[in-house]
Amino acid sequence: MKKIQISPSILSADFSQLGNEIKRLEQGGADMIHVDVMDNHFVPNLTIGPPVIKSLRKHTKLPFDVHLMIDPVHKYIKNFAEAGSDIITIHPEATKSLEESINHIKSFKKKVGVSLNPDTKIDVIKDVLDQIDLVLIMSVYPGFGGQKFMPEVIKKITNLKRIKDDLKLNFDIEVDGGVNFDNNQMIIEAGANILVSGTTIFKENSGDVKKNIDLLKIK
Ligand code: DX5
Ligand code: ZN
Repeated sequence: MKKIQISPSILSADFSQLGNEIKRLEQGGADMIHVDVMDNHFVPNLTIGPPVIKSLRKHTKLPFDVHLMIDPVHKYIKNFAEAGSDIITIHPEATKSLEESINHIKSFKKKVGVSLNPDTKIDVIKDVLDQIDLVLIMSVYPGFGGQKFMPEVIKKITNLKRIKDDLKLNFDIEVDGGVNFDNNQMIIEAGANILVSGTTIFKENSGDVKKNIDLLKIK
């Protein structure tokens, strides 16, 4: 059974204090930092790019779990790899060839994630499951923090976990969007081993990130 890991999303952090916020997450027991990159084309929001990741790199040793909600994505993989990403997660709809983009990420010795939007079926990525390190299951339509968890995604998590076990594969199952203290147990029991959270970690319990990270980890 894989250890439950927490990847706080800095989308909900104070963007004027990102270096300090990342240090606060590291001291609070975060396992990695979820960086939501949005281009106002693949999703209707615009956030940060490689220069910000590069400047944040020196503030923590934690892995940068970089979620690229950008299209096209292939030609920017090099920029995000060289900026200091550790896991680069892409959406299959944003590349002409998923396998080529996976191999391109690997060429920079980075871990590879593929993300499934709520309407995207597992079938779309079944042929690459043995080539990737992580599947990021979106439990909201990507673009914003603070949205409500979509419970219909639980079935998708369970199905993916069954496929993973049947094929004896070892990729991580990460869930992203609306994760909170009411649904974390259900998400973990369905088979996820990495939880992304922005709003719950930064806003609950007067922003006590250590307490919120610990509460999300409870199995
Ligand atoms: C949404 C992002 C998520 C989001 C999670 O497009 O990919 O990572 O920031 O934030 P919460 O936990 O607030 O739903
Ligand atoms: Zn994300």
